[in-house]
Amino acid sequence: MTLLGDTATASGKKPTEGEILSIRGGRPLSGTVEVKGAKNLVTKAMVAALLGEEPSILRDVPDISDVAVVRSLLEVHGVRVAEGPEPGSLSLDPRDVESAHMEEIDAHAGASRIPILFCGPLLHRLGQAFIPDLGGCRIGDRPIDFHLDALRKFGAIVEKLPSGIRLSAPRGLHGANIHLPYPSVGATEQVLLTAVRAAGTTELRNAAIEPEIMDLIGVLQKMGAIISYEPNRVIVIEGVERLRGYDHRAIFDRNEAASWACAALATGGEIFVGGAKQQDMLTFLNVVRKVGGDFDIREDGILFRRGAGDMQGTTVETDVHPGFMTDWQQPLIVAMTQATGRSIVHETVYENRFGFTQALVQMGADITVYPNGLQEGPRRVPRRSLEQAAVIQGPTPLRGADITVPDLRGGYSHVIAALAAEGESVVRNIGIIRRGYAGFLDKLTALGADFDVIG
Ligand code: UD1
Repeated sequence: MTLLGDTATASGKKPTEGEILSIRGGRPLSGTVEVKGAKNLVTKAMVAALLGEEPSILRDVPDISDVAVVRSLLEVHGVRVAEGPEPGSLSLDPRDVESAHMEEIDAHAGASRIPILFCGPLLHRLGQAFIPDLGGCRIGDRPIDFHLDALRKFGAIVEKLPSGIRLSAPRGLHGANIHLPYPSVGATEQVLLTAVRAAGTTELRNAAIEPEIMDLIGVLQKMGAIISYEPNRVIVIEGVERLRGYDHRAIFDRNEAASWACAALATGGEIFVGGAKQQDMLTFLNVVRKVGGDFDIREDGILFRRGAGDMQGTTVETDVHPGFMTDWQQPLIVAMTQATGRSIVHETVYENRFGFTQALVQMGADITVYPNGLQEGPRRVPRRSLEQAAVIQGPTPLRGADITVPDLRGGYSHVIAALAAEGESVVRNIGIIRRGYAGFLDKLTALGADFDVIG
């Protein structure tokens, strides 16, 4: 797999892997993009393969750098990872799992947050684990206290070192009763990946129930796990002694699908997102309709475009599933700058996810961020102490600027804003977008974007 595509751009030059784009905006993005397996499932399913005693096959794996990091971390632990049996799939053979050298693991420090999920599987396979200092997007503190508390309840000994976390389980891991303070996606996955082979039963309360988690439960069930999903965010896992391999096609990436949908709305284009499915995007689709966007749900994907009249401002509260996902708000805000009237986005999941709006303001958007949130209006989601709000007044024409992308979703939004803006933009630090968007430059090219890779 290569990391970035190599077809010609609208300007006739070939995009190569690069960090800086020069973008000439002001034209609608139109055409077709295909979304593959979800970053938020694929990386976890790869970790799950460690738990099996036989090889696994994962299909529809996107070509993104988070996958490359997890692949490499699996390989330093002796998992043999190969491409195939079909294009875009991986086979993962965990039969020779072994302890990795500290230096090899350390080489992955800061590259992704997924390594934290290696804890349970490595403890089961080797009785010990070392997890390098974590990376991922800088969107708030992103603590791992829920993860470590849960691991201790399973019987793990957790030692924090300056370079990472060392864990051991001299007496093995046992089932536990765990109540998460918040339905954290990562902590729920941590519990699932640890409980499936722990001795006895685990009851997890206040679990996250995102579609990617349900897909991970599907993967684990294929491997032989016994997991029941009960009402009110309760998941019960009956530990089993051994697990086999799986053959699984990953759920589509609903975050990428929503991103391209917002690109159509922001630029006034028409984008068919192949592979997108209605059921996992119901909440997003309602918001598209409320802002005056239009969509056509088809057998093999969803077509997004603006509706007949002007787009209208609306209010959105991010929340855990089935609420409006926090990863959807950044591209949506770019579209909201083109809607008439006031839009409000209450960010309730992370405490620092509006940093990207500064660049939009520099490009001419009228956005005010309230660092302690806004009290006004009836609320569906209970207020959290960490929440923030952004108020967007539109429509405002956007103009080209020189900007540096801060994180994955914010970075995507900057590129879309530059494509919607009049004039030329220079967008730096594009490499970050490779963490979550496969074939990003090829897709932009297919949609008629006019850009060059300049550095
Ligand atoms: C995952 C997704 C990310 C998405 C997020 C919320 C992946 C790779 N990433 O991130 O795209 O935006 O879910 O849907 O799947 N928290 C703690 N302590 C912890 C863990 C979390 O306080 O130990 C807090 C976080 O700071 C945050 C909230 O819980 O405020 C939600 O985080 P979480 O659901 O864990 O997000 P991730 O799994 O990191």
